[in-house]
Amino acid sequence: MQDPFGRFIRYLRVSVTDRCDFRCVYCMSEHMTFLPKSEILSLEELDRLCSAFIRLGVEKLRITGGEPLVRRDILTFFRAMRRHLDSGALRELTLTTNGSQLARHAAALRDAGVRRVNVSLDTLDPERFRRLTRIGRIDQVLDGIRAAREAGLRVKINAVALKGETEDELWDMIAWCAEQGHDLTFIEVMPMGDIGNEMRLDQFWSLRDLRRRIESRFTLTDLAERTGGPARYARIEETGQKIGFITPLSHNFCESCNRVRLTCTGQLHTCLGQEGASDLRAALRASADDRDLEAAIRAAIRLKPRGHDFDYSRGTVAGRISRHMSHTGG
Ligand code: GTP
Ligand code: 5AD
Ligand code: SF4
Repeated sequence: MQDPFGRFIRYLRVSVTDRCDFRCVYCMSEHMTFLPKSEILSLEELDRLCSAFIRLGVEKLRITGGEPLVRRDILTFFRAMRRHLDSGALRELTLTTNGSQLARHAAALRDAGVRRVNVSLDTLDPERFRRLTRIGRIDQVLDGIRAAREAGLRVKINAVALKGETEDELWDMIAWCAEQGHDLTFIEVMPMGDIGNEMRLDQFWSLRDLRRRIESRFTLTDLAERTGGPARYARIEETGQKIGFITPLSHNFCESCNRVRLTCTGQLHTCLGQEGASDLRAALRASADDRDLEAAIRAAIRLKPRGHDFDYSRGTVAGRISRHMSHTGG
């Protein structure tokens, strides 16, 4: 499947719930109203949609939310997707999680064919963690990460870089990941959701600056290796660990975008940084013929925009998107 800009779409991110047991400040409002269950795609519908995408060339499936592991029946879905790994059609089945429920599910995820998980963790400080997630407990996440490792899963820590908030933890975060054997990826904060523009500008910490700071202490060697996602990786020679950089603001990566996102109500967002979406739930429910569904998917892919318009470079926030990040799971 190719979009109008010649990019091959091989990576589908599927949000399986809009619910989350945290309320991260840059991701959700304090008082979110969640969708009624009737709006959410059933497991059978999710299966039919994902299988159609895989037939059309998707090789990497990432399950997101909200928090994917708060959906009660979600392990059944992972187990069902395993058949696509076994057939060789799917190269990777994985998830992005806040880690809170990992202790319960890590072994079952591994058994379903998951090999690595991305865990969102911006800070190691319990009080700061509480403030950033509003209601989360860091112990639960650290237990989850430990369980994932014990189950044999690779762990990548995703940390949103927040100016004036997590800057002072840069070295602790790097040291902890080195010691624990986790990969670490930093992300620039994007202007999404209903939080004021000024706040995003105040929070924005360019990864150019973050990288320079790392280089003031360590030697970084760029790696050619890619995981099919937006991160560029480098190795810290002194510790041997891998650090990823996701830089939508300071180094746009839309040109090589291979991704689309399905929400839990079956809306296909072909760009994280644009408002438009195509209603695949309607297509799914209108016809039992998979050829109709495939045609609807192809039509949606033809609408994929060139990229986002996020820009903080003129001292204001441009390209802001009203949709919350939790809607599409990042
Ligand atoms: P890997 O498979 O480990 O490469 O993961 P990934 O980076 O593809 O997925 P992950 O869920 O860890 O993504 C991390 C974050 O990167 C997301 O939550 C988003 O904030 C950001 N991100 C991912 N894809 C895009 C994208 O297409 N555009 C933009 N602007 N940001 C993205
Ligand atoms: N900007 C950048 N990353 C964000 N995430 C959530 N909201 C934002 C934002 N506004 C990240 C989370 C998690 C992933 C799903 O998306 O921290 O790692
Ligand atoms: Fe792809 Fe849109 Fe993200 Fe750019 S902003 S990388 S086009 S999803």
